[in-house]
Amino acid sequence: MALLEGGDVVAIPTETVYGLAGDATNGVAVARIFEAKGRPRFNPLIAHVADRAMADRIAGFDPLSARLAEAFWPGPLTLVLPQRADNGIHPLVTAGLDTIALRMPRGFGGELIARLGRPLAAPSANSSGRISGTTAGAVAADLGDRIRLVVDDGATPVGLESTIVKVEHGRLRLLRPGGIGAEEIEAVAGAKLSRGASGIEAPGMLASHYAPGAAMRLNVEEIADGEALLAFGRNRAEGWEKAVALRNLSETGDLREAASNLFAFMQALDRGGAATIAVEPIPLDGLGEAINDRLARAAAPRDKRV
Ligand code: TXA
Ligand code: MG
Repeated sequence: MALLEGGDVVAIPTETVYGLAGDATNGVAVARIFEAKGRPRFNPLIAHVADRAMADRIAGFDPLSARLAEAFWPGPLTLVLPQRADNGIHPLVTAGLDTIALRMPRGFGGELIARLGRPLAAPSANSSGRISGTTAGAVAADLGDRIRLVVDDGATPVGLESTIVKVEHGRLRLLRPGGIGAEEIEAVAGAKLSRGASGIEAPGMLASHYAPGAAMRLNVEEIADGEALLAFGRNRAEGWEKAVALRNLSETGDLREAASNLFAFMQALDRGGAATIAVEPIPLDGLGEAINDRLARAAAPRDKRV
């Protein structure tokens, strides 16, 4: 509390991944977030709120966004909304955009914000381009020498960042697949999400993101010599016995379990030192969309990393 009130940054657990949090109304705090992450440029951050009243002071809700907030908050849904004038949010949080990404986290993060009485800006707690931290240990290993406190609340239950959506001209767009499956959102919205490129304000959508040191090979049916294997479900890829290391995201093929294990297992295999991590196919439904999205980014050519 005292660190945050003093404009410092603190790594805190949320239900999705650990966040690198600072007072969203304090420009120094927000600048420190970018500095600690080593973000090469000022991508907009998500502002985290404790309740709807705090959200309403910051942004305007159209009826569809209000319905989604009602259904999924607190939880892993981020809404991009038009900012209210004079909402106190430092412009660095939104990189000068007139919209703001808002989310109400479950658990410790939400309670902390309520006690602080101020929104917290928080990107995922990892240095720029690296895998998001889902345990305090992973965060400390990555950022420990740059921040003063990591609040340890164990492994984050969802394990993937929030789903980001935006209502545009009455239509709902998926800006980032994440911890809530698109189908669940569509069921509440009563409409399909639109996807796809859009020169989005979506810096977090840089092609290569979540990059481990090892190369990644996706949808493998057969393991090559020297590869580590990131498996899914009961059926193994051919030649799996020769994998130099193996982790199974979910023996039973449960996509929620797979999501919660994804980053930690990628990191574990990466630390093992294999040059390449081979990944078995993972279905695209439910949380599979977000899992495949993160894997595709991890596999993207590294020269695209910004
Ligand atoms: O689960 C999460 O969302 C985690 C936890 C800590 O809350 N946070 C997170 O933040 O993933 P970050 O900064 O790594 O990703 C935020 C994403 C970026 O892709 C950014 O481009 C997008 O949100 N974003 C932020 N403000 C936006 C805006 N006004 N319009 C469109 N996209 C925005
Ligand atoms: Mg991130």
